[in-house]
Amino acid sequence: MSSQGNFDVVRKDIVKLLKQPGYDDGSIGPVLVRLAWHSSGTYDAETDTGGSNGAGMRYEHEGGDPANAGLQHARVFMESIKTKHPWITYSDLWTLAGVVAIQEMDGPEIPWQGGRTDFVDDSKLSPRGRLPDATKGADHLRWIFNRMGFNDREIVALSGAHSLGRCHIDRSGFEGQWVNNPTRFSNQYYRLLLSRQWKTKTLPNGVEQFFHYDEDSETELMMLPSDMALLADDTFKQYVELYAKDKDVFFEDFAAVFAKLIELGIARDAQGRITNTDNEKGGYRSAPKKKDAPTVRADIVGPGGEPSKKGKDKIRARL
Ligand code: HEM
Repeated sequence: MSSQGNFDVVRKDIVKLLKQPGYDDGSIGPVLVRLAWHSSGTYDAETDTGGSNGAGMRYEHEGGDPANAGLQHARVFMESIKTKHPWITYSDLWTLAGVVAIQEMDGPEIPWQGGRTDFVDDSKLSPRGRLPDATKGADHLRWIFNRMGFNDREIVALSGAHSLGRCHIDRSGFEGQWVNNPTRFSNQYYRLLLSRQWKTKTLPNGVEQFFHYDEDSETELMMLPSDMALLADDTFKQYVELYAKDKDVFFEDFAAVFAKLIELGIARDAQGRITNTDNEKGGYRSAPKKKDAPTVRADIVGPGGEPSKKGKDKIRARL
């Protein structure tokens, strides 16, 4: 247990958790980055809804959104940190974990400020469909990211996060990794996009993606249709070329744009205190830690764990 607001201690515990030999490529860093991004990428500038306040993925409507498939692994890993530091909000924890993971995987240092508030119920969740669809092209990417307030250069910079991690057929329907070393943050994604011959292939589930077989490492690398859209569009392509050539510019742009991403939907006063705390006004509200065991609904489950008579009637009434 740490004292409230001691984010440095939380950072250290996140670092200790990153290495997980039994998980994917040995690190939970990439999936934590995706958690931070998806918890912020629901933002809609016009209605000023969504964004990184709230930690809405704790609720079925957002957590169970197919666009968030697989992120339950990241959230479960984060539960041990929440147990140790119960004062932190889930929304701060998830964004902080993304920032810490990027830095630990040799990426840039990203400015991060705390103060986000967790929703107290599911009444303020964003509608589904605000996250990008990987089967689509440049127009779709602009439509999704302009809505959040990002321009072309920022869209390309953000996409460079695909130098991390992999696609899982049982999560998104796509499969494979973008780069040879998916636990090291780099500009390799842009260099590979430009320098390799990408061919299409159809996976057994009928999903189409791009692939290149890398002879040196004997690894098959992949690109999503939405990644290839960055090559097909001249404006996007010019930034792909810039970042492929200049790693420092990419790191600088990425740090700024990721910092902007995790602040979406947040308003701060001059002291950096968050002024729009959504459902609960006035203060740093941390949701209680989730229970470790599944919740048993006393109204539908009888003493032996079997549905009670009343419970059966309730279930029947819903059919
Ligand atoms: C441009 C639109 C984007 C599309 C269409 C897209 C799509 C996807 C898809 C389909 C996956 C595979 C998920 C799975 O099967 O596990 C994925 C993984 C990932 N995405 Fe994106 N993404 C986009 C932008 C971003 C952004 C902006 C970031 C962060 C800044 C990001 C970070 C990641 C990371 C780190 C992974 C790997 C996760 C893991 O290894 O578990 N993506 N993305």
